[in-house]
Amino acid sequence: MKIEILASILTGPLLVVAQLHALAKDAGLLYFGTAVSPSDSSDQPYYRLSNDIKNFGQYTPDNAQKWDATEPSRGRFSYGQADAIVNRAISNKMLMRCHTLVWYSQLPSWVSSGSWTKDTMTSVMQTHISNVMGHFKGKCYAWDVVNEALEDDGTYRNNPFMKAIGDSHFALAFKFAAAADPEAKLYYNDYNLEYFPVKADGAVRIVKLVQAAGAPIHGVGLQAHMTIGRTPSRENLTWTLNKYVALGLDVAYTELDVRIKNLPSNATGIQMQAKEYVDMVGSCLDVPRCVGITVWGFGDAHSWIPQTFPGAGEACLFDKNSKPKPAFSSVSALLASASGKRPPWNTAASTTLATAVKPAVATPTA
Ligand code: G3I
Repeated sequence: MKIEILASILTGPLLVVAQLHALAKDAGLLYFGTAVSPSDSSDQPYYRLSNDIKNFGQYTPDNAQKWDATEPSRGRFSYGQADAIVNRAISNKMLMRCHTLVWYSQLPSWVSSGSWTKDTMTSVMQTHISNVMGHFKGKCYAWDVVNEALEDDGTYRNNPFMKAIGDSHFALAFKFAAAADPEAKLYYNDYNLEYFPVKADGAVRIVKLVQAAGAPIHGVGLQAHMTIGRTPSRENLTWTLNKYVALGLDVAYTELDVRIKNLPSNATGIQMQAKEYVDMVGSCLDVPRCVGITVWGFGDAHSWIPQTFPGAGEACLFDKNSKPKPAFSSVSALLASASGKRPPWNTAASTTLATAVKPAVATPTA
């Protein structure tokens, strides 16, 4: 069966069915997932791929669970778009990584421009976390509790939570999260941890602060927004992941893409991209506590990159017509070749998966 999969990968034309999640499970990961958006259904080939558990065993909502979507005005909660995504995951028997609670961006102006004391901001944060996590209780395998709290130099971002509460807001957020859904895996999540050791060490400081305050934290999510030609080596990436494993945590790549800096791309760039995707996925396979990999969308037509970095793009595993790219074939071949080489993630030295995957969301079976 594994040989057939590998043969179909290598022979190209037979490759009509993507099986990233199925291959990732055989290689010992819990999931291979993708960010999803309520607008995905406007592109039917893309939507069909996204709903097939052989391809993706986990969803992260790209925007639907952020503060501006869930609590646009104080104390008024709105879950329509996020519910649609969570229900899609449940009916597809996929896991949810839920995203995100305490983040400086996509905050409604009543939070970002409000005038807060330590007490009032603590109360606002607690109300938000307990309502949002309470609403999705039992349906999120993991939550990104605190997102992007670090500058690239490893210092704390001076965001509204830091300004009002100081660095004790990290542990408070994790305590509130654990109270709202005691079974969800609670993550600190950030970008450029792969690139900048000083930033990676900043995340270590945050984890230690939370742990020292007696609050639960289960994982660090490395967003993995990479640029071709700049992706660190597989060994270097493994070294960074192990910084957090050494603190007793799980790790995951939570928003993987590998962008081409100057479009149009050429054959060299496309091959570099394939190799760098393989280094990213390979480094997760190398670390038994690396739970899984989520791509931040899987088709170039749906990527956030061109809007944010004009002139750059083509960062995904599939092209704008949802056709697989060389990076997809290389990642699939890597996963197929890793089949059976590490224990399945749920038997790795980790916390209780049995209680972490709640009945409302069946364990992916592909
Ligand atoms: O909702 C408004 C809409 O009313 C308006 O008409 C439209 C006009 O531009 O903008 C819409 O908001 C956009 C929003 O996505 C929803 O589509 C924002 O402009 C746009 O900036 C926003 O981008 C999102 C970005 O986070 C914001 O920081 C991306 O879709 C989303 O993929 C991206 O995701 C983040 C992760 O959450 C955290 N890590 C980095 C990652 C990429 O930036």
